[in-house]
Amino acid sequence: MNEKLLKKEYSKKILEIQKYNKAYYDKSASIISDSEYDRLKKEIFDLEKKYNFLKDPKSPSLIVGYKPSKNFKKLKHKVQMLSLSNAFNKEDLENFEKRIINYLNVKKDFKIEYSAEPKIDGISASLIYKNGKFITGLSRGDGKEGEDITENLKTIKDIPRKILEKNFPKEIDIRGEVFIKNSDFKKLSNKFANPRNAASGSLRQKDSKETKKIPLKFIAYTFGFEKNMKIKSQSEFLMNLDKWGFKTNPFNKKIVGIENLLKNYNLIEQKRDALDFDIDGIVYKVNDFKIQKRLGNVANAPRWAIAHKFSANSGISKILNIEIQIGRTGALTPVAKIKPINIGGVVVSNATLHNEDEIKRKDIREGDIATIERAGDVIPHITSIDKKKRPQNSQKFTFPLKCPSCGSNTIKDYNFITKKKDAVRRCSSEGYECEKVSIEKIKHFVSKEAFNIEGFGKKIVENFWSLNLIKLPQDIFKLDYDKLKSIEGWGVQSVSNLKYSIDQRKKIPLEKFIYALGIRHIGLENAKLISRFLKNIKNFLALSKINNFDELLNIDGIGETQIKSIRNFFNNETNLKVINDLDKILSIQDSIEFKKDGLLKNKTFMLTGKLNGMSRAEAKSLIEQNSGSIISNISKKLDYLIVGEKATKRKVDQAKDLNIKILDQSDWLKMLNKSS
Ligand code: IVH
Repeated sequence: MNEKLLKKEYSKKILEIQKYNKAYYDKSASIISDSEYDRLKKEIFDLEKKYNFLKDPKSPSLIVGYKPSKNFKKLKHKVQMLSLSNAFNKEDLENFEKRIINYLNVKKDFKIEYSAEPKIDGISASLIYKNGKFITGLSRGDGKEGEDITENLKTIKDIPRKILEKNFPKEIDIRGEVFIKNSDFKKLSNKFANPRNAASGSLRQKDSKETKKIPLKFIAYTFGFEKNMKIKSQSEFLMNLDKWGFKTNPFNKKIVGIENLLKNYNLIEQKRDALDFDIDGIVYKVNDFKIQKRLGNVANAPRWAIAHKFSANSGISKILNIEIQIGRTGALTPVAKIKPINIGGVVVSNATLHNEDEIKRKDIREGDIATIERAGDVIPHITSIDKKKRPQNSQKFTFPLKCPSCGSNTIKDYNFITKKKDAVRRCSSEGYECEKVSIEKIKHFVSKEAFNIEGFGKKIVENFWSLNLIKLPQDIFKLDYDKLKSIEGWGVQSVSNLKYSIDQRKKIPLEKFIYALGIRHIGLENAKLISRFLKNIKNFLALSKINNFDELLNIDGIGETQIKSIRNFFNNETNLKVINDLDKILSIQDSIEFKKDGLLKNKTFMLTGKLNGMSRAEAKSLIEQNSGSIISNISKKLDYLIVGEKATKRKVDQAKDLNIKILDQSDWLKMLNKSS
């Protein structure tokens, strides 16, 4: 490429990154994924490294962040707020260490001690303390000049206003990250695309009353200017931060050697999804302050630190075609079949498109180049498409108006609560008339929460269906085991195992039976309520005869929506045949009478970890039998957290934060006058 073309290419990239910076810093909105941003930044750096003549004063190698917003007073940072260079693999880390060793001119086997700190993906802030008092708080801005966001920062409980500890420097600028916990983010209205944007948006509100509405957190990790600080290393500094009353990251660690850095990196990456805050890598800092000082900075990043980024959680691929999947309740879900790509170590070939409206809104088409995101246990989904790369002959996707499985009309229900039509389109047939719905219904029937037939997985349901062995749930209990032995993939032992699992489940509680039927809007909780109200299978079967569904309205928690769905279920001949046949084969147990004034009356419980000699299901039912209730989220409504072996630390910490009583198994059993 000649010089002119190179310059053009380079300027295009600078303009592009400026556009992203503007959105990110001014509007608190990310318009591309972090990994794509990092990729673009790396491309610019690589070009600059290779071609000396390429240098733009607006290059990310020269400036940090973006000019401060006009909403706030601007103030200069006494010590610049630096950025970090990135490492993506072992080689990058080895080069980082080599550069340090060369710079210090020490022996190759010189052992460098690092402080390894998870890199929280939030907004950095600088807090100026004078004589132990929090005076001014600044945003990073462009690294040289930040915005005065003192009032907003004062709304954050984690930021101490006054520090009385003796060794707290007379003057110091404490720096750290403002962020919002994922669990708190979920509780917010969906005004922000991700926790980072929510934190940034709320921190930069003109009115601090608005900031106060959002539970922001602060974790401290470094300092800017300081007067007379006697601390000698980063790890010692972190320890002192704790003493002074700041929060620090519980996963901070002192580490020597690249191999150990990598071990820690892998360990934390595995934990990443379970953490209640987003991290995008690990920051390594040379621990000794004297060595840090010798190393100094390059342009806008220190030589003594690097950010080891986690592998991307998004990637770009082509949508090969859009398939419509049909669920147990007849919902038509569009799924993009994509050219397989590796996202963060997992090969992804499907991405959900949610529903018809989503496709329309984003105008997603077959053949499009799309960005796919995969985070935690969330199903991979498409975040955006690149319309510039769209093939010329591309056509708008038309959503089928007939069910692709049975040809019935599809409908969109009217939602009485939102007073709008549902976004989801459904097959209008009632259950077993539609092949795909039937298969999904049987999968649900055998699933863990329902009949829990061990070894009877989704693949077996599909296989038995195609072999005409099962068409309705009752067929599971009428399998011809001798015939099964001769089918490919089955043998004497596997058939005997299957028979055993099926026979085991012939005795079933009424609530599980009702749930297993897969009646729309009747999940586990509602099935429990109905079974407690109707008490036995006879009363349940009688619903079809007396046709009096309104009596179910007496159940607290059951409303019109559920009644309508139960009525539809009982108005269908096949459904009636299913329940009557099953009643003949199974032993459906009456609902257990729960004590109304049991020992745990009005008390709420949550379980974490493994209990000794008792399954979770048994513990739950013990609580309920004694008039207690189980809740699934830690909130002020929770009275007790029961902690078993290998409990989730996050849950225990959250409970401690909210002053919730923590019980071990024996404390809890004592409440029930039982001993462990
Ligand atoms: S040290 C001179 N430590 O990462 C070193 N930064 O790309 C710069 N960050 O602006 C800061 N966790 O927003 C440091 N433990 C940590 C960090 C951390 C997150 C962020 C911070 C900074 C950015 C650098």
